[in-house]
Amino acid sequence: MLLAEKGAPVPSLIGREDLQYDYLHAVVRNGLIEMPPFRPTELSDEEIEEIYEHIMSQELPANAGNPASS
Ligand code: HEM
Repeated sequence: MLLAEKGAPVPSLIGREDLQYDYLHAVVRNGLIEMPPFRPTELSDEEIEEIYEHIMSQELPANAGNPASS
């Protein structure tokens, strides 16, 4: 995994305990600041749900950490 190899910290969404489906869905559909929105023809609701399930089923890599605190 690239992040682990580069010793880079924190994949920003994996490991987040406060990440709710409705919020993720809204961000994907509307975009957020620098993040572009995705139309239903680009990414279906079902696919967004799968992405959410995937994110929530992952664990942080062992070397993940907050760069500010290391
Ligand atoms: C389906 C794919 C994606 C999902 C599920 C996703 C999900 C999210 C979520 C939930 C947030 C909010 C995080 C928070 O509130 O802390 C976020 C933020 C962000 N996303 Fe995405 N994202 C996706 C694709 C992308 C892509 C393709 C880009 C860039 C081309 C991008 C760039 C960003 C940026 C820059 C932010 C931070 C908001 C800002 O400061 O501009 N995302 N994303």
